Amino acid sequence: MKKFPIGIFDSGIGGLTVAHALKEKLPNESIIYFGDTEHLPYGEKSAEALRNYSKRIAKFLLEKNCKCIVIACNSASSVAFEIIKKTVKNIPVFNVIDPVIEKVANSCNACKVGVIGTKATISSNIYKSKINAKCPKAIVSALATPLLAPMIEEKFIGGDISKKIIANYLSNKKLHGIDQLILACTHYPLIYKEIRDYYKGEISVINSTNIVAEHIATELKDKNLLNETQKRERHFYVSNYTKAFEKSAKFFFQEDIKLEEVNLFV
Ligand code: DGL
Repeated sequence: MKKFPIGIFDSGIGGLTVAHALKEKLPNESIIYFGDTEHLPYGEKSAEALRNYSKRIAKFLLEKNCKCIVIACNSASSVAFEIIKKTVKNIPVFNVIDPVIEKVANSCNACKVGVIGTKATISSNIYKSKINAKCPKAIVSALATPLLAPMIEEKFIGGDISKKIIANYLSNKKLHGIDQLILACTHYPLIYKEIRDYYKGEISVINSTNIVAEHIATELKDKNLLNETQKRERHFYVSNYTKAFEKSAKFFFQEDIKLEEVNLFV
């Protein structure tokens, strides 16, 4: 079991930021990544559709003998985590939300927390309900920022256009007076610096990738599931292959990767 791969999935390539953080934290681990590029953006899909896609992908990762499953997408984590946990009984299932909630709850009492993410994540209200379950006095204010993911995929980063879009969203009155901002989308680590610059260091901007990788590493260690050999493999699958995705995948994973198409949904 220890040598088996970590299974990771996302709507497409955003989850590669989580895969990258895991690779850095646990370089010996094998990885099977699945990006559901046929159905992206998940942020625009219904909760029911996201549950169905996630169940099918989890089945694929189980068939690949994964020793755990990481839902590396906030939209799918928001609405499909419970059902995947119920369906996948024998191995751990991780989402990208709970480790962040834990961190925020430890550092916040009556603070004001801002959350930005896709429409699916924000309309699920998951961050507010989970933070308030631990910190009833925290004020949680969430804003859907649907232009950010496509903007990042098109590599509009670090220029005038991205600066304007980011400023337009972050100046929304919902986010006035926040002490912390959670980046609740696995695409957003790529604009972490721009968001931090917008706030000029005045608030804490929470980038979930390292928090999530750290949590998974601790859990796998506690469960005695870490690979002790140095033999590892990494495979990256998508439900719809294009050269453009492969190019973007390199940008998200920070090294060249080969995407293989696998048709799960026929
Ligand atoms: N990576 C997805 C997330 O974290 C957003 C992209 C999409 O809408 O598919 O929610």
